[in-house]
Amino acid sequence: MKNIVIQGGTDGMGRALARTYLNRGDAVLVIGRSEAKGQAFLAEANAAGAGSRAAFLQADLSLVSENDRVVEEIGERFPVVDALVLCARHYLSPRRDTAEGIESSLALFYLSRYLLSHGLRGHLEKADRPVIVNVAGPGSPMGEIHWDDLQLKRNYHGLDAQMQGGKANDLLGVSFASLYDGGRTRYVLFNPGSVSTSFSGEYDAATKGHIEGMKRMAKSVEAGIAPIVTCLDSPPAEPLSAFVEGRRMSLDHPSFRLADALRLDELTRELLGR
Ligand SMILES: NC(=O)c1ccc[n+]([C@@H]2O[C@H](COP(=O)([O-])OP(=O)(O)OC[C@H]3O[C@@H](n4cnc5c(N)ncnc54)[C@H](OP(=O)(O)O)[C@@H]3O)[C@@H](O)[C@H]2O)c1
Repeated sequence: MKNIVIQGGTDGMGRALARTYLNRGDAVLVIGRSEAKGQAFLAEANAAGAGSRAAFLQADLSLVSENDRVVEEIGERFPVVDALVLCARHYLSPRRDTAEGIESSLALFYLSRYLLSHGLRGHLEKADRPVIVNVAGPGSPMGEIHWDDLQLKRNYHGLDAQMQGGKANDLLGVSFASLYDGGRTRYVLFNPGSVSTSFSGEYDAATKGHIEGMKRMAKSVEAGIAPIVTCLDSPPAEPLSAFVEGRRMSLDHPSFRLADALRLDELTRELLGR
């Protein structure tokens, strides 16, 4: 039995992955913001006779303090973590700071992944074939890191914030693999392509129309998670890898520059005050 932690496991691909691994007999802990969705996950697990292997942690992961709490609680529940899947996102058309004063998209889409990846690494290293799958956007032609304005205080747009988050997650994978060179945990960056999920977010009218159109054209959640399951079941041998819809992409690409990754890591630690 494996211990699997799924950030953003209350909806979309995270929820479908949670169901898949519970059905296989693994222990699955999902983290999400909605108490109702979390309780529905637990009720479904109970009904399937898998209640003792299912757990839900309610948390607003755009808060650094909540990520710290979650890391602690997961460590108490699972001394060994076999897989960490990172799926939480929430699109914001209006710019918003968290109660801790950090731009919300950066905080949820990037900082939470940073804190969980580093925070749970000790527990992952104890597993046989530990893997982190960061489901974001490697290979996207869009997006850039705004080095002098990471929180987009001067010129915010929701899409820009999401795309920057994708690039930041690419660099998180690069710095993680470099900083823990020789470690056992495999870091997989995964772009699922367009998948018809809840698309959690608060959208302006124009973006909402675009999202509804995308949902109609997108592949099913089952099709979206199939190649993620392959990565979780057979983690690649390399410390870092990137996939677009199941196809391996070369890391010899401007998105994966080590110098940029170390620069972002330093900026992140400054932002977090650690
Ligand atoms: N769907 C696509 O077409 C697509 C394409 C490319 C990349 N991706 C990436 O794939 C990943 C999964 O996407 P998805 O479409 O499956 O997700 P989704 O259906 O939009 O679900 C998002 C998840 O994030 C959680 N979440 C949102 N805000 C949160 C917060 N403040 N704290 C904690 N959890 C929060 C939600 O929990 P609650 O509902 O409980 O709040 C939910 O479980 C995302 O990282 C996304 O960027 C998706």
